[in-house]
Parts: sequence; C-alpha cells; structure tokens
Amino acid sequence: MKEPQNPTVQKPNKSDKDYSIYFQPPSLKDAKKRGKEEVSVHYESAIPDEMKTIGAGKRYLIRTYGCQMNEHDTEVMKGMLEEMGFASTDEKLEADIILLNTCAIRENAEDKVFGELGHLKTLKQEKPGLILGVCGCMSQEESVVNRIMQKHAFVDIIFGTHNIHRLPALLREAYYSKEMVVEVWSKEGDIIENLPKKREGMKAWVNIMYGCDKFCTYCIVPYTRGKERSRRPEDVIAEIRELARQGFKEITLLGQNVNAYGKDFADMTYLFGDLMDDVRKIDIPRIRFTTSHPRDFDDHLIKVLAKRGNLVEHIHLPVQSGNTEVLKRMSRKYSREQYLELAAKIRTAIPDVMLTTDIIVGFPGETEEQFQDTLTLVSEVRYDSAFTFIYSPRDGTPAAAMEDNVPEAVKKDRLKRLNDLMTVIAREQNELLRGQTVEVLVEGESKTNPDVLSGRTRTNKLVHFTGPKELAGQFVNVMITEPQTWLLKGELIEEQKARVV
Ligand code: 5AD
Ligand code: SF4
Repeated sequence: MKEPQNPTVQKPNKSDKDYSIYFQPPSLKDAKKRGKEEVSVHYESAIPDEMKTIGAGKRYLIRTYGCQMNEHDTEVMKGMLEEMGFASTDEKLEADIILLNTCAIRENAEDKVFGELGHLKTLKQEKPGLILGVCGCMSQEESVVNRIMQKHAFVDIIFGTHNIHRLPALLREAYYSKEMVVEVWSKEGDIIENLPKKREGMKAWVNIMYGCDKFCTYCIVPYTRGKERSRRPEDVIAEIRELARQGFKEITLLGQNVNAYGKDFADMTYLFGDLMDDVRKIDIPRIRFTTSHPRDFDDHLIKVLAKRGNLVEHIHLPVQSGNTEVLKRMSRKYSREQYLELAAKIRTAIPDVMLTTDIIVGFPGETEEQFQDTLTLVSEVRYDSAFTFIYSPRDGTPAAAMEDNVPEAVKKDRLKRLNDLMTVIAREQNELLRGQTVEVLVEGESKTNPDVLSGRTRTNKLVHFTGPKELAGQFVNVMITEPQTWLLKGELIEEQKARVV
C-alpha cells in the first residue's frame, strides 16, 4: 500500500502541536483538481497476524451518529475489532474501547458528540485503561480536532474517514503510547477492499462508491468524505453474491451520490444504470439504493428500475428546495421544473413508485415566497415521507459565507409548516393502500407490542400485523386494514388469496 502524503501516526506533545498539516480547508478550487488517475484499489488483509489476539478478553462499544454510510463504517470497524479478538458490549462500564463514529452534517450532530465526550470524561478518570476514540466525519475537521486536543485531552485516538482500515495499527499505538494518537489523512484517492464487516440481521449495506464531488454550497460531506471514487463492479457484484449466499434478504447500495457511480472509471463506460442492471440478476429478493442526486438520474437508470424484479419501487430523491433561485444558490444544478419533470418521468415508468426526499428550510436569503415554492412542490410530487432540516451553517462551505438572514423563529415556523403538510400528504398516501395486499419482509416482534409482528414493504413502509413469531425473516402477504400516518396496520393473509401490489 502506498504511504500517505502525511506522516502516519502522530504522538503529539499536547501543548505545542501543529495539526494544520493534516487539513485542507474546504476549497472548491482544489476540488476541481480532483483527478481520475489517483484512485487505487487495495486488496491486502487489514489485520496483521500479530494483532489477531490483542483484544482477547476485552470488549468494545461503538456509538454511531449520522447516516447509513457511518452505520456501515461501524460494521467494518466491528469486523476488524472482532478479528482482533475483541467482543462487543452495549454497556459503557464494561467496555475497554469506546469509539464515537461521528457526523458533521449539522451543528446539532456535533453538539451530541461533545455532550457524550463530557460524560465519558468521568468514565475515563475512573478507568484509565479505557481507550477512547473519535472517528468519522468530525475528525476530518481541523476545528474539531483542535477543540478535542484542547478541551478533551483525555481522548486517546482521533482518526479520519480515510483511516478506518488503519484501526489495528492505531490501537496498537494507543496501547503503547501515553500521548493522544491522531491520524487524519487528507489523502482521499484510495479504495480499500477486503475489510472484514460485522453484519447483523437480514439486511445488508454495500458501499458502491465513496465521497462526493457535487459540492452543494451548504454541505460539508465533499470535504469530510473526499472525492468521488467508485468500487469496481466486479468487487460490488462479488460482495452481493456472497451476501445472497449467506441468506441476506435485502441489500442497500450506498453512496453519497450513487448516480455518479462509474463516472470516475478511466478505463470503461459503466454507470449506475449498468450496475443496477447487473445486480438485478443476482438472486437476492430486494435491492435498494441511497442516496441519489436528481442531476445525474438518467433515462437508462429509469428504464432499468422499471424492470422491477428485485429492484424495489422506492426512490429517495433529495430535492432540498422547491425554488429555482434557492437551488441555484445551493449549487444543486437543476431547476424546480427539471426536478418535477424527472419525478414525472419516474412515475410514468414506475406508476406505484414511492418517492421520498430531503428538504432544507431557512437557507440563507430564503424568502417566504421561495419557501412557499417548496410547499407547492411537496404537494405536487406527493412524497411518502421526507427528512426535513433547518439550515445549519458549516464552517468553510460557500453557504457559510452567505448572509444567514432568516431569523431562527422563522426557520422553525417554516419547518413546522413543512412537517404539517408532509404529515397530511403521508396520511393520504397511506390511505391509498387501504384494502390492498402488500409483500412484507417480517423483521420480528414490534418494539412496542410483542404480540404484533413488524415488517417492511418493498417501498420501505412499516407494517404491523398479528402472526406467529416464526415468520421473522420471511416474506408474507398482508392486507392493509388500518393505514395511519407513519404505519400501516394489516392482516396476514393466506398465500393463495393474495393479490400482491
Ligand atoms: N444544514 C442542514 N441540512 C443539511 N443537509 C446537508 N447539509 C446540511 C446543512 N448544512 C441535509 C441535506 C442532505 C441531508 C443528508 O442533510 O438535506 O440531503
Ligand atoms: Fe452533500 Fe449530497 Fe450535495 Fe454531495 S450531493 S454535496 S453529499 S448534499
């Protein structure tokens, strides 16, 4: 494996370190220089033999914040820790290692992590042998690393999103060192294959690409996750085939912008639609993907998704705003009309598709009229659900330099009005399913009532019904009798009578 551009492990003298060598401030200019040729794929094993027993008799706990990409990174870290002999625990008091896999997308995500660090300080004082680590997107931010160095010096390891595979080496360093171990590579061109992963349940995430080159003006991700780089199709397909062999029922293909898949291949033309057309042929019942960008959602992909089979009728299509001027300032690179045209095209090809979205309210300069455009777009598209957020300025992003002139109370009011509208539409959308029979993948007993089974439709809607526990892990047909806003209640029906939608 190539050496990183930066020195690897730092053992700083806590008073006089200079971490600026690790960080490149967010820069659109640098991003344009992101080249195709630098991506290299590594297939070596991540765990050196001498590390395979280092965790014997010890336990780990990983707290995960943020998106599915982080959840999946946690599975990789769990896989590595277990190959080193560590066992998992949910009890902080039992843990010998605690890792916080952090999220930087909004300020409140960061606040949660600093709050948790405050609690862990006491634990660390009581148990000095405990190893505390901070990883994930916040570690990629210079200001965060500085703050941890200054105010939370009891942390043992900080490592970035490009350094996950280095966890064994970093742990060894932390065990032998009295100093904080910091390793955050700004180098971002590599793909590391063959990392162990600890997956649980019947659903699995599979990364198809890393990073993002879209540079929406509000978003920190292109800086914390690096440039877009796609895994080779043969590696993705081999991983999914293996998951099918192991009996997984559902796969979610992951990427910050899956529609950009393959654009970085210098040696072939193979895009996201091609990948979907190939994974469609694998014998696994359900395949989803997240998250997509409307700009790169091409006709070939729509045609492939319309073939259905194991490709489910659910598309998460973040819109962010319904106003063209705001979209322009967000640098989303599509207009309201283009988005609506795309949504209509998808609905024509897949009439029963469920569309979900992400929306930001209170972007700098957003007027009441512009916000109204978001409301009308939501009513027109009729999303089944939406993740809605108040804009949160992220240091170093272009939007953070724009005048944030929407008062907090107005932002909150807009969020409430948007959520109220979404609640009405979601209820109406679910009402359409009354009396229909849907295919449900049974996950197990409902969290609130052990007599009730809980599962998901192909469109990812939550369904509750009464039935024997043994159905967990199986596909059944359920007739929807009582649709609610965020839940469908139904009755299990015998296979012969089912007319599945
Ligand atoms: N403020 C608020 N929401 C944001 N998102 C991304 N960056 C910000 C920000 N600075 C939202 C977008 C994105 C989702 C994952 O998080 O809606 O699609
Ligand atoms: Fe962030 Fe998604 Fe835009 Fe990339 S496409 S910059 S991850 S919002």
